[in-house]
Amino acid sequence: MTDPDLFPCILGIESSCDETSAAVLEGFHVRSHIVYSQMIHKKYGGVVPELASRAHEHAISQVVHAAFEASGKSPEDIDALAVTYGPGLMGALLVGLNYAKGFALARDIPLIGVNHVEAHLYAPMLEFPELKPPFLSLLVSGGHTMLVDVRGMRDFSILGSTRDDAAGESFDKTARLLQIGYPGGPVIDTLSDSGNPRALRFPRSLLEADSLDFSFSGMKTAVLNHVRKHPELSDKEKADIAASFQEAVVDVLKEKLRRAVRASGHKRVVLAGGVAANRRLRAELKKMAEKMQLELYYPPLEYCTDNAAMIAATGVMYQRAGLFSDLEIAAVPNLKLA
Ligand SMILES: Nc1ncnc2c1ncn2[C@@H]1O[C@H](COP(=O)(O)OP(=O)(O)OP(=O)(O)O)[C@@H](O)[C@H]1O
Ligand SMILES: [Mg+2]
Repeated sequence: MTDPDLFPCILGIESSCDETSAAVLEGFHVRSHIVYSQMIHKKYGGVVPELASRAHEHAISQVVHAAFEASGKSPEDIDALAVTYGPGLMGALLVGLNYAKGFALARDIPLIGVNHVEAHLYAPMLEFPELKPPFLSLLVSGGHTMLVDVRGMRDFSILGSTRDDAAGESFDKTARLLQIGYPGGPVIDTLSDSGNPRALRFPRSLLEADSLDFSFSGMKTAVLNHVRKHPELSDKEKADIAASFQEAVVDVLKEKLRRAVRASGHKRVVLAGGVAANRRLRAELKKMAEKMQLELYYPPLEYCTDNAAMIAATGVMYQRAGLFSDLEIAAVPNLKLA
């Protein structure tokens, strides 16, 4: 028999935006992981909050049941339940949180409210359970772009963050301008394979000489101006814009990470969030890590974007530390990391 203190069986639930997800973990071992991505938003080119809540309501029981079925575990095996309580869309968060409260109450098991952004930071532990703070994290997602000094659990400082768009958001907006699909990150990543990254030189805003903050709005405006000047773009021209834009984002992220490594002295670096799935970024950071002799970790592709496995993994850490939430916990749409 496994020790439930070391290898707790945790059900994770995620519903903060447009993914309904459930996962069953035993320690950091993923027994099952189900993600239902809401396709309804594709035709609007972005997430429509009201539609997201309704789709979560529709999907949540089935997603949880599917997670149990795939895990070989049953609700009686669960030691604690971890659920996202923020940040995210209020209606969407409430669906997951209320479901989790009902489940925890019915089974009389503890509830762990998880900060979704903190969970992104810990996603690499699903592949590298031995990974422990302290480390420097570059978190690049749809709503956040941050450099975080992770000293320990709930012990963070934000060294830099975006002053305007998030990195993922800039991918999504650029894809919308090029009318190539949603979400933009994966589409641009793929399309860039057939484009020339040096075809166009988009601005790389690095801000003040020692700044660890980010700004992506200038890059997006440059794409907008280019598209306005050339309204009839061929597929090859679109691929060149995609590749050149991606190159500019990767250059900025690389330079900011280099600065943060120098400023913080960290030798262990963790890449996290949806944009961490970007192949060019992963390859470039790998080269940089070799040159600078850094230990670099990034999550498996399926755990870069929103998923309940990272919520459950954070739950494992909280459970081991004896940190639980009460059943009155409220959803916090603008929950901050630090
Ligand atoms: N291969 C890729 N290359 C670049 N960006 C990508 C890739 N795959 C996904 N993304 C981007 O990642 C973002 C989604 O990531 P994630 O699910 O972590 O964000 P979010 O949950 O919407 O925001 P947050 O976690 O900040 O609240 C989208 O903006 C998407 O375009
Ligand atoms: Mg996310």
